[in-house]
Amino acid sequence: MKLIFGFLLLYASIITPTHCTDTIFSNQIVRYNETIISPLETFELGFFNPGNSTNHYVGIWYKKISSGTVVWVANRNTPLTHTSGELTLTIQGVLLLRDATNGNVVWSSANSSSNSSARNPIGKLLDTGNFIVHKEGDNVNQENPIWQSFDFMTETLLPGMKHGWDSITGIDRYFTSWKSDDDPASGEFTYRLDTRGYPQLILREGQIIKFRAGPWNGRGFSGVSNLRPNRFYNFTFVLNQREAYYQTNVIDASVITRLVLQPSGLLERWLWIDEKQEWSTFLTRQNELCDQYAVCGPFGSCNMGKSPVCECLKGFEPTSLDQWKITDWSQGCKHTVPVDCKPDEGFKKYSNLKLPDTRGSWYNQTMTLVECENICKRNCSCTAYANSNTSGTGSGCLLWFSDLMDIRTIDENGDTLHIRLSAFELDLIENGRNSSARRRVRIIVPMAFLVLVILVSICLYYRFSSKTKLHGTPENEFQNVPENTCTGEEDLELPLLSLSTIQRATDYFSMNNKLGEGGFGPVYKGILEDGQEIAVKRLAKTSTQGLHEFKNEVISISKLQHRNLVKLLGCCIEGGEKILIYEYLSNKGLDSFIFDKTRSQLLDWRTRYSIINGIARGLLYLHQDSRLRIIHRDLKVSNILLDVDMNPKISDFGMARTVRGNEMEANTNRVVGTYGYMAPEYAGDGIFSIKSDVYSFGVLVLEIVCGSKNRGFVHKELYNNLIGHAWGLHNDGKSLNLVDECLVESINISQVQRSIHVGLLCVQRYPEDRPNMTSVIMMLGSEGPMPPPKEPGFYVGKTKKDITESSSSYGRSSNNELTITMLDGR
Ligand SMILES: *[C@@H]1O[C@H](CO)[C@@H](O)[C@H](O)[C@H]1NC(C)=O
Ligand SMILES: *[C@@H]1O[C@H](CO)[C@@H](O)[C@H](O)[C@H]1NC(C)=O
Ligand SMILES: *[C@@H]1O[C@H](CO)[C@@H](O)[C@H](O)[C@H]1NC(C)=O
Ligand SMILES: *[C@@H]1O[C@H](CO)[C@@H](O)[C@H](O)[C@H]1NC(C)=O
Ligand SMILES: *[C@@H]1O[C@H](CO)[C@@H](O)[C@H](O)[C@H]1NC(C)=O
Ligand SMILES: *[C@@H]1O[C@H](CO)[C@@H](O)[C@H](O)[C@H]1NC(C)=O
Ligand SMILES: *[C@@H]1O[C@H](CO)[C@@H](O)[C@H](O)[C@H]1NC(C)=O
Ligand SMILES: *[C@@H]1O[C@H](CO)[C@@H](O)[C@H](O)[C@H]1NC(C)=O
Ligand SMILES: *[C@@H]1O[C@H](CO)[C@@H](O)[C@H](O)[C@H]1NC(C)=O
Repeated sequence: MKLIFGFLLLYASIITPTHCTDTIFSNQIVRYNETIISPLETFELGFFNPGNSTNHYVGIWYKKISSGTVVWVANRNTPLTHTSGELTLTIQGVLLLRDATNGNVVWSSANSSSNSSARNPIGKLLDTGNFIVHKEGDNVNQENPIWQSFDFMTETLLPGMKHGWDSITGIDRYFTSWKSDDDPASGEFTYRLDTRGYPQLILREGQIIKFRAGPWNGRGFSGVSNLRPNRFYNFTFVLNQREAYYQTNVIDASVITRLVLQPSGLLERWLWIDEKQEWSTFLTRQNELCDQYAVCGPFGSCNMGKSPVCECLKGFEPTSLDQWKITDWSQGCKHTVPVDCKPDEGFKKYSNLKLPDTRGSWYNQTMTLVECENICKRNCSCTAYANSNTSGTGSGCLLWFSDLMDIRTIDENGDTLHIRLSAFELDLIENGRNSSARRRVRIIVPMAFLVLVILVSICLYYRFSSKTKLHGTPENEFQNVPENTCTGEEDLELPLLSLSTIQRATDYFSMNNKLGEGGFGPVYKGILEDGQEIAVKRLAKTSTQGLHEFKNEVISISKLQHRNLVKLLGCCIEGGEKILIYEYLSNKGLDSFIFDKTRSQLLDWRTRYSIINGIARGLLYLHQDSRLRIIHRDLKVSNILLDVDMNPKISDFGMARTVRGNEMEANTNRVVGTYGYMAPEYAGDGIFSIKSDVYSFGVLVLEIVCGSKNRGFVHKELYNNLIGHAWGLHNDGKSLNLVDECLVESINISQVQRSIHVGLLCVQRYPEDRPNMTSVIMMLGSEGPMPPPKEPGFYVGKTKKDITESSSSYGRSSNNELTITMLDGR
């Protein structure tokens, strides 16, 4: 951080400005001790010398904030060596920077401006940070002024600036880093829109490509996952006949943010934190190994979730196995059998990728994927195709004609690419067989089909003739289970279903019926033969910890009956499968509402308040009213399901622990749960109790009120979590600011304040301070006084041991909201 602030403290030599104006007229001189200030005093233009340098430059910096951050430099490559500079606007509308001692022109805007000799030109510094020269009488906001500093980017992209290319004016706006923090001269790094092929942004050091923000896919840059919608700025990419550019705009005018290409080559977005009077990095574009350009070579794919990170795409093998083994991936991968345009070649679909380098690609923004495939199929040199716009159902066509470079595999929001493969490769991937086997298949398949038809006919015949006998079976399937072998050890009255029933209900675990992925395996929707809808949780066969959790879940939940707990209908252990059958809830998880911009509008305050109360009652039942005392241990928004009437139901008991009635707390070596919801004493020391559930409940309440996730929450003041932010607002008496924008019209102020207060009481640092669920329900339901909350506690990560100690350090962490299992060696 120190280093950064050194860089930000850039000017020192401004003497009291003699005129505070936003405008200069032709032939007017701006001297070394004078500046031009934008109307709202946001930006200032004048002379400065950066850092420890003795050179002098004309530049623009923030006036409003004290750090003196320079955002634009005029004469970056031709500094003045002494203080006798003079900036003038000529009658032709050209800015000239002269050395007054000898009259030499050090810098001029002439080379860059269109040479229209304008009568009475005017130079103006706008509050966007743009210095424009226009004709007298012209509107300042017109499209093409005589000259504007925004067209001559240095190393900073301000909101409203265009990063890209204009084919009419021929202006190419791109980042060029400073040489060093002391020297604004053009450095080695550039970040530029490359328009050879489908436009994409490429960061180079000299000629060498260091980083590539994938092509724009309609939602963001393909493969750049940390550019997400946020509350500070929005972003857009424009591509049309005339121009192609990337642009950001601040959503709230008070936000001060800039994207900077550092002298080190790092692209960083900064936010100004007014309270702390300092800049803070909001995000860094290149922060992972996989962000390095083409780290895995052609046809290689970089996956941060794998170790080592590089793998060949399916159907491909390392070009040089020896090099690959010693983690030299530069030669990448090759086809196992070369493609040479044989008619039986085809395309394989690869999902969740960063699209490969589009230099040399071809595109058409209106074609459909089918047309796209046809063109690619017809052209032998076409190696792959994809939609150019993958938002919505996908549209447009993008074709590649060479080796595919710089592919990444990413977890979410990746793009889909169709790659040309030989028949052999396709066969190998789909059937694990090679082509000579395939020829045999061609004979076997028709024969097998014939046999199948005969068999099916026979079956149908028998089924038809014995229809009366079979009648009534479906409803018996639940009751007439042979024995209660479901767990084999507990006195369960839980129906056992056969695997075939479940397979039929879910259409053989068809992808179309998949509802989502839980901690231990996928969840499917199914319909029993009697029409009852069910949710089927299929534990992954490979998960080793699965059996334990499975039994746990069965035992815990089969004994529980409460309207705010999801109902277990049955289970199945057969053929290595472990399956749980639940009631199906049509509205899915609460997370699909409150974290979704449009769906969150469906939850008005009344509904949210009743959800909060429902969860509280469900939790109270778990903690106190059921026969056992149950600690859920993984309470989070995605584990709250909603039924048709928006009644909340707590689900996913895979991690629940039962404790004996009088036992209040327990210790575990296996910390399981979800970061962001785990109480500090649990995440840190493995101590769990009903109070650690209360903590998670508190987080839930704050999330429901605010509509943002606790983890990954970023705010101006950079509390990197919601709890810290809520605590700060509460102390300032502004807790209502926490309320989700979708709620503004429907809130009941007193209920909202109570909910936030209760939420904060639940997330207090020490378990003994936190209320139990009985008190929570009382507090939510009454108007009576409540104790003031003490400072909240939160746990950020194993590496920052001190966080649990000093709860006021707000740490940073990544955004993965995964259920984690941590084996603690202690
Ligand atoms: C600015 O400099 C000019 C000459 O360079 C001088 O005449 C003027 O007094 C100075 N103004 C201030 C405020 O120092
Ligand atoms: C300026 O010089 C001081 C002392 O030599 C040094 O500590 C500081 O880092 C330098 N600042 C910059 C921006 O280089
Ligand atoms: C204008 O551009 C030309 C060629 O690009 C260069 O030689 C010349 O020095 C430039 N003039 C100024 C005043 O920057
Ligand atoms: C602009 O054009 C005029 C006439 O076409 C020419 O005399 C003048 O030198 C030009 N100015 C610059 C700065 O190129
Ligand atoms: C970004 O936000 C500004 C200000 O709220 C708005 O005018 C603009 O239309 C938004 N742009 C996009 C692409 O959403
Ligand atoms: C893109 O494809 C559409 C439909 O095939 C066609 O009408 C259009 O002319 C194409 N545009 C370009 C620029 O090739
Ligand atoms: C295939 O596409 C390439 C690149 O667009 C083009 O140069 C070539 O002519 C095409 N070949 C055929 C047969 O259409
Ligand atoms: C991409 O597709 C979406 C949804 O079909 C559409 O709204 C958007 O305008 C498209 N973007 C571009 C750049 O074509
Ligand atoms: C395919 O398998 C056969 C034997 O099953 C083998 O002889 C042949 O070499 C294999 N082909 C390739 C291309 O690996």
